[in-house]
Order: sequence, then C-alpha cells, then structure tokens
Amino acid sequence: MSLSSIIKNIPKAELHLHIEGSLTPELMWRLAEKHSVSLPYANVEEIEAAYNFKDLQSFLDLYYAGAGVLRDEEDFFTLMWEYLARCAEENIVHTEIMFDPQTHTERGIGFDVFMPGFLRAIQKAEDEFGISSYLIMSFLRHLPESEAFETLDAAKPYYQYITAVGLDSSELGHPPSKFERVFKKAKSLGFKIVAHAGEEGPASYIWEAIDLLDVDRIDHGVRCQEDQALMAYLKEKQIPLTVCPLSNLKLCVIDDMKEHNIVQLLDAGLLVTVNSDDPTYFGGFLNENFEALHTSLNIDEKTIRMLAANSFKASFLPQEKKQVFI
Ligand code: HPA
Ligand code: ZN
Repeated sequence: MSLSSIIKNIPKAELHLHIEGSLTPELMWRLAEKHSVSLPYANVEEIEAAYNFKDLQSFLDLYYAGAGVLRDEEDFFTLMWEYLARCAEENIVHTEIMFDPQTHTERGIGFDVFMPGFLRAIQKAEDEFGISSYLIMSFLRHLPESEAFETLDAAKPYYQYITAVGLDSSELGHPPSKFERVFKKAKSLGFKIVAHAGEEGPASYIWEAIDLLDVDRIDHGVRCQEDQALMAYLKEKQIPLTVCPLSNLKLCVIDDMKEHNIVQLLDAGLLVTVNSDDPTYFGGFLNENFEALHTSLNIDEKTIRMLAANSFKASFLPQEKKQVFI
C-alpha cells in the first residue's frame, strides 16, 4: 500500500481543530449572501487569495472577520456538519473540536444559537458515520479574564456537552498566568484543560500553562525545544502536544516545512500528535498535514502509525475506547 493510502485509511483522531477555522470560502460566500453581509471580496477566489499571513495576528484578523457570517442555528449546524463530513472522508473517527464562544457572544449571538446547531450536527455524524466528537470551549486570551469568567458562566446550561476548556487567540503579551483563576474554576467544575502555548510565545508560556493552569495537553508547543528542562518534563509526564504543521508554515512559525521539528520532538520521546488547526485558512485538512510531513520530512509508515496511535493516546476518550486504536 502506498503511504498516501496508509494516511487516508488509518483511523485517526483530531485533537486541535477550531470549528470557526473550518469555514470554507464557499460557505462564507453563501452565508454572506444569505444574511446580506458585505465582505471585502468580489468572489470566492478573492477570499482564497487573501489567505497569506505573516504571523498569527494577521490570520486572526481575517478569521474573526470571516466568522461574522455565522448568524443563525442553521449556519452553525452547516459549519459543523461540513467539517464532520470531511472527517468521514479522511477516516477521522474521533474529534475534539474547539469553539470560540466570545467570537459570537460579542456579536450578540448566544450559546442558545450556536450550541444547538453544533450538537445537532455532532449527533447526525455519530448516527451516520459513527464519529465521536467532544467539544472544547476556548477563551480568547486577548480579552480580559473577567470576560472568560462570564463565558464560563454563560455556558452553564451546556456543561454536559463540553469536555474541556481551552485558551487561544493572540499569544504574545497574553501569557497563561492572566487566566490562572478562571482555569482553576474550570478545573474545579470537572473540565479537562488545554491551552495554546509555545506557538509564537516562548517556552516559559508552556511552563505557565503546566504550572498555573494544570493543563492536560498543550496546543502547538513547538517552541518547547528552546528549554531542555521543559523537554525532559514533557517526556517524563507524557503531556501531549497537538502540533499543526501546515498552520506553523502558513503563520511563519517556520519558513519551510523541511525545518519543522516534529520528528525531533518524536525522537526525543514526546507524545506528539498531528492536527489541522484552521484547515480552510491554512491550506489543508488533517490528511494533507500528514502528506506534507511525508513530502518534506520523509516520514515513513512506522512514524505515521505512531502519530495515529498518539492521537488516540492523547485524546480524552475513556481508556477502553482508546485501546481499540493504540
Ligand atoms: N493560535 C491561536 N489562536 C487561534 C489559532 C491558533 O493557531 N487558531 C484559531 N485561534
Ligand atoms: Zn489552534
């Protein structure tokens, strides 16, 4: 079997995916027409052409603007359904999906609009494809901690549908320590904890996420290599890193995929996974991330199988369900 067929056919879990970052230019265009939202683009091709980023912030500006077309429950259903249908094609059998409530509540769109849409699509994907999905509610770190507390409170009617709480958006200048109290509360409520750290930010932000937020996983984390004591700790505790290769390339965290350190991190004994982050903005869904690693870093079948097994090991699935795929 070719490596492309192995990548396509092996069962995988995806653990780092922002649902708002799976909005295709076609759906953005359709929803803009539906709601008479004016976009700064003349057609779908112009939307695609705008996806050239110099850093995280230049991406986030377009990503938040793009999410402005999501208005009613059906829009959120369609967004989630299109992603899960893609998972079925890619043989992603389990997914842990981040959503950014504040991107919507700031526009007057509440949990009562987006959650029913998300949950309906998740149920349909479970029924039709057998895909299991968990939700990760992420706080926007460029906003104050008080607003993260308000978001945690507003989510109360939906706690049973949310597995974990996360931290995303502009990393530099917004260290995990800014959110220590709200994550303590989230932990006490029984949520798993994840946080973006060490994407653009330094290794010290990864330490903060571990020491102050008590994370179960680090999102990205590729800058951990700058601190050997941190590398040793991540290895010893097997704290997973949800690495996103095409994202790192598109946001200029690396200049060339050949420079990506994922193989070095694996070789160092870290629990590393591959993920797509914001696939429609970064030029590839999960299998295309695996393909890029194969093309540029020459990863072999054994490594692909290890990365797929890691995706289940690092998931929040119960042990007996993980075991089937490890
Ligand atoms: N980093 C931080 N925040 C984000 C990202 C990311 O890669 N994608 C969506 N929100
Ligand atoms: Zn991310």
